[in-house]
Amino acid sequence: MHSDEIRKRFLRFFESRGHRIIPSASLVPVNDPSVLFTTAGMHPLVPYLLGREHPEGRRLTNVQKCVRMQDIEEVGDATHDTFFEMLGNWSLGDYFKKEAIEWSYQLLTSREEGFGLDPERLYVTVFAGDKNAPQDRESKKLWLGQGIAENRIYYRGADANWWPAVKDPVKDRWTGPTGPDTEMFYDVTAAGLGNLSHNDFMVAEKNQEVVEIWNDVFMAYEKKDGQIVRELESKNVDTGAGLERLAMLLQKKDSIFETDLFETIMPIVERLTDSTKSERIVADHMRTVVFMIADGVVPSNTERGYVLRRLIRRAIFHLKDKILQPEDAKAFASSVALKYKESYPELAARVSEIESVILEEADKFKKTLGLGLRELEKLSGGTMSGKDAFILFSTYGFPLEMTVEITRERGVAVDEAGFYEHFAKHQELSRVGAEKKFKGGLADTTAMAVKYHTATHLLHQALRMVLGSHVLQRGSNITSERLRFDFTHGAKMTEDEKKRTEDIVNGKIREGLPVQCVVMPREKAEETGALHLFEEKYGDSVNVYYIGEKLEGAFSKEYCGGPHVNNTQELGHFKITKEEAVSSGVRRVKAVLS
Ligand code: SER
Repeated sequence: MHSDEIRKRFLRFFESRGHRIIPSASLVPVNDPSVLFTTAGMHPLVPYLLGREHPEGRRLTNVQKCVRMQDIEEVGDATHDTFFEMLGNWSLGDYFKKEAIEWSYQLLTSREEGFGLDPERLYVTVFAGDKNAPQDRESKKLWLGQGIAENRIYYRGADANWWPAVKDPVKDRWTGPTGPDTEMFYDVTAAGLGNLSHNDFMVAEKNQEVVEIWNDVFMAYEKKDGQIVRELESKNVDTGAGLERLAMLLQKKDSIFETDLFETIMPIVERLTDSTKSERIVADHMRTVVFMIADGVVPSNTERGYVLRRLIRRAIFHLKDKILQPEDAKAFASSVALKYKESYPELAARVSEIESVILEEADKFKKTLGLGLRELEKLSGGTMSGKDAFILFSTYGFPLEMTVEITRERGVAVDEAGFYEHFAKHQELSRVGAEKKFKGGLADTTAMAVKYHTATHLLHQALRMVLGSHVLQRGSNITSERLRFDFTHGAKMTEDEKKRTEDIVNGKIREGLPVQCVVMPREKAEETGALHLFEEKYGDSVNVYYIGEKLEGAFSKEYCGGPHVNNTQELGHFKITKEEAVSSGVRRVKAVLS
């Protein structure tokens, strides 16, 4: 079954069971400074999973593009990747375990409506129970009801069968909706493994003979800073199935890299690499890189930009020549854009920008690669200290494994544990730095951040009045200490323009305008002239926040998930603290409220 058909079947199955199809959100979370990338389909839905009403209703389904970096070391095996698409369905306080499990089973096994998988090859795991929540006997019973044999159902602890919420990387704590889950696994061996003892099942999982294909989370609690703080008034279902793995099963391939999802990129990497592992690493990383750049990420030394930089460099290091030629950068960008042109047309729309970002980074790496290699020339015999390996990493952008590989050729060992010690310290420093910047943490809804959010809407409109209607939001980042707003404009703002912008915003604050929200069909919303993000896709119903007495003639109208203050009077005094360029044609304003 082709990947397009898998996406279609998943969405159609849930659509015909009352779910609304919502679009994939960007890989870069909007207005959420504390998480680097969208890591699961539930991620953009966190506010709704915690109780806010979703404009599309209580049953949702979609295909979400995701980036997860925690498995980067595993990339190269059959199933791990850094970018993937997650098929998901959600109940926001609507159905719970019974329907979720029934539908998971039906979709996986039905030939007509679903994927026609062999029920005799399915295994499931359910939560074993601990001090937070009881053993999930109900889920076990429901699986038995579907015909899964008792000795194919395993109880597991919280490390495996509890969705831990979302990791706030700034505080390094789990935060958000959480609860037990039940996971579905599939036997991918040729002969079939049959019934397995719990222990044999774990071994088979480790050997990738059974692979996890779907996870149904039953969200019943909210976590803050790593602690469960309350039971949710309404219980939710959050499910996630990886498209790549489903494609691997349904196309009977031995790895995700042999599925149609990689069919345009593999011929290119095969030409440029000399091992299967490198092939897979380059294919995976380049695909992720293309998606990240399309969503506005550029290489840098911090946060998202650093992740992108590392992926590009690691991919280049795995090329035979350790050099990325312009025509190959082009081939990577266009092969990914071509494969995904139906589902993610934003890639094709930005393909030349993607190419040049990759090439520019490749050029930079070419320079530091030479310098770093020269440093390495000086070595002979013995052990390289962790500190030196770290300097190579921080100054010349050498990933550790690259240093290890080069030094090995010279008979030099690297103190890898020492490297990680320095690395941990570095992470700690940047974590502390980030903590200062992003005090509020995940989906910062402290009162101050909410104020900054409303101030951002006022600023957006004021900039359009002062500079012209070409001004549109390109990015927004809010903390409880300031707002940061990126927008399209070609020139540095003059002192007078800044002053006029401030005056307009402060005028609207003084007027004490109400901030209100209506839910309306997208076409209607478009007619109102409400502003929205150019790159973002929206569902059929949207929330429009407007600042003014009535929607018609309101000072500001924007598609937005909120939250906002009730009245602009709550904002205090608005002041622009900085105005600078981000890239050509994009300016950045920072501002504070006092
Ligand atoms: N949040 C769960 C996961 O990512 C289910 O969607 O696996």
